[in-house]
Amino acid sequence: MTKIALIITSTRTERFADRPAAWVAERLRREGLEVDVVDMRDHDLPSFDGPSPMYAPRRYATPAIAEFGRHVDEADAYVVLASEYNHGYTGVFKNAADHLFAEWDRKPIAFVAWGNVGGARAVEQLRSVAVEFGMAPIRPAVHILPDVLVPAMTAPTYDAELFAALEPRLDALVEELTWWTNALGSGRAASPEVVAAHA
Ligand SMILES: Cc1cc2nc3c(=O)[nH]c(=O)nc-3n(C[C@H](O)[C@H](O)[C@H](O)COP(=O)(O)O)c2cc1C
Repeated sequence: MTKIALIITSTRTERFADRPAAWVAERLRREGLEVDVVDMRDHDLPSFDGPSPMYAPRRYATPAIAEFGRHVDEADAYVVLASEYNHGYTGVFKNAADHLFAEWDRKPIAFVAWGNVGGARAVEQLRSVAVEFGMAPIRPAVHILPDVLVPAMTAPTYDAELFAALEPRLDALVEELTWWTNALGSGRAASPEVVAAHA
């Protein structure tokens, strides 16, 4: 079965991210996809140190990095839940991503983000970083703007109904991500990993 890693990039104690994570996970599972929730709170990684992982594929310096690498490696595609801080995505996620290379390569990645402009600035940064990892960032994204964000954030508990207006956008994301997952999965199966050649 196709496995999607749903990556929660915020580690803040009072984070909003859990609510979109619940909504997106529900929608992906309805499509019959296997969802691996990769919560950066569960992956407390050291600051990146060492040679470029592009030239040292899957050579992990610590068990924690190996565990994060395993989750990323096993996924066929990614949906990143992008909290926006100071017009960028989280430093925690950038540090974690840099520990790997081959694990991301030639796979599709999609974004669900929120904020005053729907996390658009964080998503644009993530798209350019994803390309450098050899990934295919897909076009449809879900941007949770204040009209949905404020009620969804201030509600006492998670309520899927509060995200309902964004359901068509999430459907478009899932449809496109599925297409790219199949296309790139076939491509990876047909040719060996040639990570070093990407340099
Ligand atoms: C340090 C910090 C910087 C922020 N910068 C932005 C920003 O640049 N743009 C924005 O729309 N929201 C910004 N916000 C508000 C966040 O979008 C909001 O706190 C959101 O809930 C963060 O996601 P999280 O709760 O999952 O961590 C910022 C919040 C923090 C804590």
